[in-house]
Amino acid sequence: MNKLSFNLILKNRRSVREFKPKAIHQDSLKRLIWAAQGKTNNSGYRTAPSAHALHPLRLFVTASNIEGTVSGFYSVDPETDELILIHEKDIRNDLEKAAIGDQPWITEAPLVLSICADFITPCKDFADQPPYGQRGSRYVYIEAGAVAQNIQLQAAEEGIGSVLVAGLQDEVTATVLGLEEPFAPVLHLCVGWPA
Ligand SMILES: Cc1cc2nc3c(=O)[nH]c(=O)nc-3n(C[C@H](O)[C@H](O)[C@H](O)COP(=O)(O)O)c2cc1C
Repeated sequence: MNKLSFNLILKNRRSVREFKPKAIHQDSLKRLIWAAQGKTNNSGYRTAPSAHALHPLRLFVTASNIEGTVSGFYSVDPETDELILIHEKDIRNDLEKAAIGDQPWITEAPLVLSICADFITPCKDFADQPPYGQRGSRYVYIEAGAVAQNIQLQAAEEGIGSVLVAGLQDEVTATVLGLEEPFAPVLHLCVGWPA
């Protein structure tokens, strides 16, 4: 397969909300996870920038049709990018109910990547910079946007579709994801082969 030019990848990135019932290969999942905020050198720097290199984002994976991977809900080890199985329950429909409005693509996607964040550490770190109390969370959202774009562009490079879903009921979504303080959800990426 010929590699797409970066310009063509940018052009091909389009929100996709209808997916084929076709498995995504676990190697593609690994590449999406690395693209998100994988390490690019031994100093711990990553594919996405992070204010003061705090790296407050965490990735969770709802795998429902991934070739070579047991279906279930996983966290991603931020140091190694390894998947850590949390449980084998399919939470997609619960995530859909926890979204704002009618978003059936959450239940239909073979893969949902959820970007969550520790908001407390950046808020403390940037507490002395105006707008006081808000700069840390502003930076978290900027970083999540960069990570989401990395994932969507890696998916586009492989011909895989995705849509960013940030219309979430935060507390209900946190409960479905089983998040504990200081983590809170920021967005999901629903991923699959375009129908
Ligand atoms: C911050 C943000 C939040 C979004 N939230 C949702 C969402 O909750 N549900 C959804 O289906 N699309 C969501 N989208 C995707 C937009 O609807 C989509 O990017 C827009 O329609 C433009 O289409 P394109 O991505 O194909 O360029 C969101 C996009 C952004 C940047």
